[in-house]
Amino acid sequence: YGSTSGLVQRNPRFSNLNDEDVRYFEGILGAKNVIQDDEKLISANTDWMHKFKGSSKLLLQPRTTDQVSQILKYCNSRCLAVVPQGGNTGLVGGSVPVFDEVIVSLSSMNNIISFDKVSGILVCEAGCILENIISFLDNEGFIMPLDLGAKGSCQIGGNVSTNAGGLRLVRYGSLHGSVLGIEAVLANGTVLDMLKTLRKDNTGYDLKHLFIGSEGSLGIVTKVSILTPPKLASVNVAFLACKDYSSCQKLLQEAKRKLGEILSAFEFLDSQSMNLVLNHLEGARNPLPASQYNFYVLIETTGSDESSDKQKLEAFLLGSMENELISDGVLAQDINQASSFWLLREGISEALMRAGAVYKYDLSIPIENLYNLVEEMRTRLGNAANVVGYGHLGDGNLHLNISTSKYDDKILSQIEPFVYEWTSKHHGSISAEHGLGLMKADKIFYSNSSDTVQVMVSIKNLLDPNHILNPYKVLPTSLTS
Ligand code: FAD
Ligand code: MLT
Ligand code: ZN
Repeated sequence: YGSTSGLVQRNPRFSNLNDEDVRYFEGILGAKNVIQDDEKLISANTDWMHKFKGSSKLLLQPRTTDQVSQILKYCNSRCLAVVPQGGNTGLVGGSVPVFDEVIVSLSSMNNIISFDKVSGILVCEAGCILENIISFLDNEGFIMPLDLGAKGSCQIGGNVSTNAGGLRLVRYGSLHGSVLGIEAVLANGTVLDMLKTLRKDNTGYDLKHLFIGSEGSLGIVTKVSILTPPKLASVNVAFLACKDYSSCQKLLQEAKRKLGEILSAFEFLDSQSMNLVLNHLEGARNPLPASQYNFYVLIETTGSDESSDKQKLEAFLLGSMENELISDGVLAQDINQASSFWLLREGISEALMRAGAVYKYDLSIPIENLYNLVEEMRTRLGNAANVVGYGHLGDGNLHLNISTSKYDDKILSQIEPFVYEWTSKHHGSISAEHGLGLMKADKIFYSNSSDTVQVMVSIKNLLDPNHILNPYKVLPTSLTS
């Protein structure tokens, strides 16, 4: 599969599942929530990209926190390894078993618990699908501070556990800011109730942050409280073309200055990404067909005053045309057109999957240097692959993807470790928003000092001393076996 998954070995400390274990789980959950059915297990064992495949024989579907607690307490005492699973849309092989780990799916814990219209604070169970929360909030006149292409399947618990970034981070910040509280179950079954609904709370160490972005390696998130912004009256989406990367960069600077408080997304894609979407995604249409441009930028604004917001955006667009930062552009006239612009950006991952094999890198790089990596990679690989660059430019997050007809070790050796070394040398991060999962567990040192990683290992040892939670992921196995 072109990944490093072949390199880890099953840790012999973990027990093998037996009939008695299955009976115990049936006793807690009822037989219908203890799944051994082949069909369901095949999909739960396989990740979204079909790159990582486990061989788990058991999928558990708890409905309450207490059930999660009983499951983990038992697994810990039996030394049975566990993979917490949300919507299984993760892109780094974190959500599927590597070997025979028991899969604990949060899908059945999908209730909204409360919503306070005054504060905008939502409390819900971890298995709520992001899109369902978005619809619920829409009815209440609020929005989620988080939006991403996988919204139809991913769950809020998975979002929190990966610290997902997505399309609105430039405006609303990361989940470390909007998540106000978490309920999580530790490996030994202890339920940590940190489900606060306060904006300010400086009472000791803020432990919830350990669970945001720890990819199921420290506990299972069962409930979340999250601060949601009100839905504002005017949303505008513009799709723009730029002649070169330097123009995209200057456009971002201008957008931050001229659109300021109404800017809610600043996304980019290069012409290679655009061609890929147009060639592989049904319904995708280039709104700027007059010429082949090198870069495209999608800008969204969200504000409270329809006429002044539009005026502001139009003045910004006009100014940017005059300064030649934009070569061409179109402003969505209705919600359908806005969605068709978003499809071009959000549909890239799907288009890449359809195009064949894909090597995926999710990097934070200081914006000035961000696109140099794409160009260097193109030079390195020549005709051997289609190198595409897109991402959350407003956040300095590049998605570098290398598309080939099939996985090939020779191509992989041209990409890695070069891509990680380059990113590290430029003071970037080898995982901006997708996490480390299995794919990059042993690459953690490219972005963290050994002292930092050692503290992470100590935290892991404290919260999960038997290392039953999501083994082989996040931290190098050499430090956690
Ligand atoms: P899963 O994939 O099931 O799990 C992800 C990780 O979290 C695993 O390590 C798993 O063990 C752990 N986990 C899941 N639920 C829990 C829980 N309740 N408690 C503890 N651990 C848990 N990501 C971005 O950041 N930004 C994007 O813009 C973005 N766009 C995407 C677009 C597409 C089309 C796709 C397929 C993926 C995209 N992703 C993006 C990646 C992915 O959707 C996110 O990482 C998402 O947050 C994962 O949520 P999930 O419920 O699917 O979690
Ligand atoms: C995105 O921004 O489209 C996602 O993070 C998914 C991807 O990188 O393919
Ligand atoms: Zn992304």
